[in-house]
Amino acid sequence: MKPKSPVIFSLSAIVAVLSLLAGGQAVLSQDADDAPTEDAATIPFALPKSGPFDAADIKIDNNEAITNWFRSAHADAAAEAFRHWDEDEEIKPACAACHSGEGFRAFHGLDGSEPGVIDSPINTGGVVDCGTCHNAGLAEVTEVKFPSGLMHPVQGVEASCMTCHQGRTAGVNVSTAIADMDLDTPNPELRFVNPHYATAAATWLGGYGAAGYHYDGRSYSGRFFHARPVSTCNSCHEPHTLEIDFKPCLTCHQADSMQDIRISRQSYSGTGDISVGIRADIQTNAALLLDQVKAYAKDVAKVPMVYDGTRYPYFFADANGDGVIDESDGKAVAYNAWTPRSLRAAYNWKLVISDPGNYAHNPPYILELLYDSIEDLSGPLGVDMQSLNLLR
Ligand code: HEC
Ligand code: HEC
Ligand code: HEC
Ligand code: HEC
Ligand code: HEC
Repeated sequence: MKPKSPVIFSLSAIVAVLSLLAGGQAVLSQDADDAPTEDAATIPFALPKSGPFDAADIKIDNNEAITNWFRSAHADAAAEAFRHWDEDEEIKPACAACHSGEGFRAFHGLDGSEPGVIDSPINTGGVVDCGTCHNAGLAEVTEVKFPSGLMHPVQGVEASCMTCHQGRTAGVNVSTAIADMDLDTPNPELRFVNPHYATAAATWLGGYGAAGYHYDGRSYSGRFFHARPVSTCNSCHEPHTLEIDFKPCLTCHQADSMQDIRISRQSYSGTGDISVGIRADIQTNAALLLDQVKAYAKDVAKVPMVYDGTRYPYFFADANGDGVIDESDGKAVAYNAWTPRSLRAAYNWKLVISDPGNYAHNPPYILELLYDSIEDLSGPLGVDMQSLNLLR
């Protein structure tokens, strides 16, 4: 493994050294009036002023941006998202575009390599560094490809967020996997299709981005344009802290917190409660959908399942229904009785929960995916959709 050279270190070190030199160069920068003395003139090089120095007095350019970024998830070198490949000692090309700044630059050809592919090994130890977003070459990236195949036009730094927060699969991967199979017959060849994580951009593009599994005969809301000036990633997320300032939301919304924001005057969740944020409707329906996926596994596919959000591939077999994940050779048994119907519903459910900001990124699309998946499972489960009182 090559040693890590975080940008934050080199930047601050260079700036600090420059400041010290500047401080020590009084000798060379004196006015003509104030000619250097014989002694000073013979000093062959500029000596730094003697210390002690107070670190706080040394000016570092971009200090605020660096400090903000350093505290963010993008700089968290200890996170699984950046450590996952440590044992391999290099990041696989299929993963590197989103899991290191170096990989991102290689993927977009910003390092002079061919754009669209990563053709040499990428070092471990990188994070989403400054040069990921601050890169003149980014101006030439005018579209970003999504897992659905969509080529989405982008401008400037948006290209970066859209590349990494798009997830890794789309509804079309599910359609392909289940093509020509009987809807309710378990097929041991079916594997869970995982949308990946932090899929904000995929949610945001909605039906147009086609990240979800789209049921036949249904139409889906497209991009969530929201409202100016909250129509781009960075208009809500401060690009270094990644945090969202709630105050500007209040120019248009009345709520105690972001999670409490609601415009809709109808309840989507069947609770009838419109005093809560739209996020609550999404969470209620998502919980119902997961319950249905499990009920279907038990009653229709006849192999109960356990969901464990902490380990891949998240859905496990529990053949005797005792609530404990089955093991084989000491390893957890991945769920092995998917049917096309359960797979597409579980995929949509996972896509929804993979974006904790879904309620702000595209609530209509998310609610549609949940509704259609619940409706699809309700048939074989013998649940009366009307009685659930949900709204699409
Ligand atoms: C399109 C971009 C993209 C690609 C390609 C990608 N990932 Fe990720 N991955 C992400 C993002 C974004 C996150 C951050 C999710 C979070 O923690 O908020 C992530 C998170 C992860 C995590 C951490 C999950 C956790 O629970 O903390 C692992 C592990 C991971 N990815 C593995 C992989 C592997 C293995 C590959 C290649 C086979 C890969 N990723 C390819 C974007 C990507
Ligand atoms: C995830 C993308 C991203 C990363 C990583 C990033 N920046 Fe930025 N940065 C931006 C964007 C976008 C803006 C423009 C903000 C605006 O126009 O309001 C910006 C603006 C700036 C500015 C202008 C002043 C300001 O804070 O708005 C400075 C300076 C800066 N960045 C330095 C850095 C440094 C140094 C790093 C690394 C430590 C870094 N950035 C990492 C996206 C990023
Ligand atoms: C090179 C890939 C990459 C780029 C470019 C990128 N991100 Fe990320 N982003 C990630 C990864 C990986 C994580 C998860 C890091 C971790 O788990 O510590 C993440 C995490 C986040 C988070 C979650 C913060 C949290 O507290 O969990 C937000 C919000 C975010 N990014 C927004 C953005 C925005 C906005 C942009 C564009 C300005 C952007 N990202 C550009 C890869 C990227
Ligand atoms: C209208 C404002 C808005 C816009 C535009 C927006 N977001 Fe978000 N984002 C949010 C909110 C609100 C949350 C959830 C924060 C919470 O509940 O704590 C969020 C959450 C996230 C998260 C998950 C953070 C976490 O805690 O894991 C990521 C990643 C993210 N956004 C990335 C993006 C990207 C990339 C874009 C552009 C495609 C984008 N966002 C556009 C408001 C916005
Ligand atoms: C300039 C006005 C404006 C600002 C500022 C604004 N919003 Fe909105 N927001 C709207 C409008 C208009 C809608 C309805 C859009 C639609 O349905 O197409 C909306 C819808 C929403 C919804 C969905 C509500 C529902 O019941 O469906 C959420 C959540 C939301 N905004 C969150 C935010 C957050 C978080 C912020 C601050 C980061 C924010 N908004 C800032 C105008 C704004």
